[in-house]
Amino acid sequence: MTEANLVQKLHASDPGWTINADVIVIGSGIAGLTAALTARSKNLSVLLLTKDVLSTGSTAWAQGGIAAALGPGDSPSQHLNDTLEAGAGLCDINSVNVLVEEGPAAVKRLISLGATFDLDPSGNVALTREGGHRQDRIAHAGGDATGAEISRALVAKVLADPKVRIFEHALVLDLLKNKANAVCGVTLHVMGRGKIDGVGAALARAVVLATGGLGAVFEQTTNPLVATGDGVALSLRAGATVSDLEFIQFHPTVLWTGNDSKGSQPLISEAVRGEGAILRKLDGSALMQNLHPMKDLAPRDVVAHVVHQEIVNSGNAYVWLDGTKLGEEVWLHRFPNILSSCRKVGIDPITEMIPVVPAAHYASGGLVSDMTGKTEIPGLFAVGECANTGVHGANRLASNSLLEGLVVAERLSTHLQDLPKQSEPEFNSSPTNLIKGKVRKEITKTTTKGAGAVRSKESLTKTLQTLNQIGNKTTKEASTQSWESTNLLTVSSFIAAAALHREESRGSHWRSDFPERNDDRWLVRIIGKLQEGKMVLSETAIKNK
Ligand code: SIN
Repeated sequence: MTEANLVQKLHASDPGWTINADVIVIGSGIAGLTAALTARSKNLSVLLLTKDVLSTGSTAWAQGGIAAALGPGDSPSQHLNDTLEAGAGLCDINSVNVLVEEGPAAVKRLISLGATFDLDPSGNVALTREGGHRQDRIAHAGGDATGAEISRALVAKVLADPKVRIFEHALVLDLLKNKANAVCGVTLHVMGRGKIDGVGAALARAVVLATGGLGAVFEQTTNPLVATGDGVALSLRAGATVSDLEFIQFHPTVLWTGNDSKGSQPLISEAVRGEGAILRKLDGSALMQNLHPMKDLAPRDVVAHVVHQEIVNSGNAYVWLDGTKLGEEVWLHRFPNILSSCRKVGIDPITEMIPVVPAAHYASGGLVSDMTGKTEIPGLFAVGECANTGVHGANRLASNSLLEGLVVAERLSTHLQDLPKQSEPEFNSSPTNLIKGKVRKEITKTTTKGAGAVRSKESLTKTLQTLNQIGNKTTKEASTQSWESTNLLTVSSFIAAAALHREESRGSHWRSDFPERNDDRWLVRIIGKLQEGKMVLSETAIKNK
């Protein structure tokens, strides 16, 4: 048991209004939108709740693409091997098998539904390569606007269906459960509407979490700042199990915009290296030369560690990404959005090298669930980045996440045949509390400093102590800020506790005091639960048969 004093139920006023649907979907990325369409294919009414507007979020920001064995010479088994290698021994092989076998058909269905991918000169889907892939298998759209195109196509379908009711700017607070302990709805606040602490209840036969990532617990992230880990935090409060939270993937090539830059940072897609760009030290020498057989396209954790180490060793603020050999045509047509982000800060990547640093990008862990979205709590399902199906192991293979969101959200259909009738929520008597909204910066600073790309027993112990102290800064003033800070504190505490527990380095978890991978001891998943405000961690064996 790790000492902490976390909030077990958010303080909020009693719901002042109620809305009903067969299925509530929380989140409007590829996983949430596909889950909504899956529910509609079973003729169920859907309430789609999204924290920002329908068309924003991590999916819409995805540049590189969606991975699937679509090309000549490629096969699901090669995709499986690359995924397992990147996952550094912690992938669930059964889950990965489902992903790679069903991936190609799922991408083709996405195309039939209206998503337009870039084509090669023969009219086939154009495929590129990213880190850790030994084949060209990344389908992309609009050059570097893959997520935006997928989002456009799915949003159009959802908007065309009158049986999908949509609430934008909806912050979901807590899950509601019935007397059988099954999830039967949520409490929520619609930001900017009604009172600052106004709350409603949405009741349904099933709740699907597709809330995305938690990059906002760090000071610099490629995620939108609404990615505060709400799904993970609220499911922990409801008694769910999380796993693999120590595995936070840092993307190695994020545009450096100054030492004091905080918040969402512009991503320079791995696909830029897939098209031939290379990392260089500031003296111009090739950084990845002789460090990995795949050089600049080594798995992401390897490249991120090399970049981080070079920055620490050299004392420089960044390394260079040299894409000057790509040529104007490639930059204009293949990477128009990245070109524009660079030009906005005065760099022309056609002729100049780009300063890059690592930043928090993706949570490989999350709420324990399976390849049909099922969690251990009846009525509660999870899809996409907030879920942990075991597909990503210790380090997600590039562009596998959009694919996972798509495949699992379609497979949710198995549970939607025979949903139980809607039930009434029971009063939850857990004590309520909140963390002050203004401590958000303290949480992100503490987490970045001690539980970021490189951790140690000393840094993590200090992080947990500081987070515990922040946990005493409570308030009863409910607001978006205090609800979000409370979620951030819960998520940061679990990340730090899991990272402290795992005394080895593996995948995206890098311990300076335990630099080696240790398969004798650590071929386990660290799982976490929240009980009466305390974090309870344990271990479970990896399923690999
Ligand atoms: C990228 O475009 O480099 C990111 C792709 C991913 O995170 O899968």
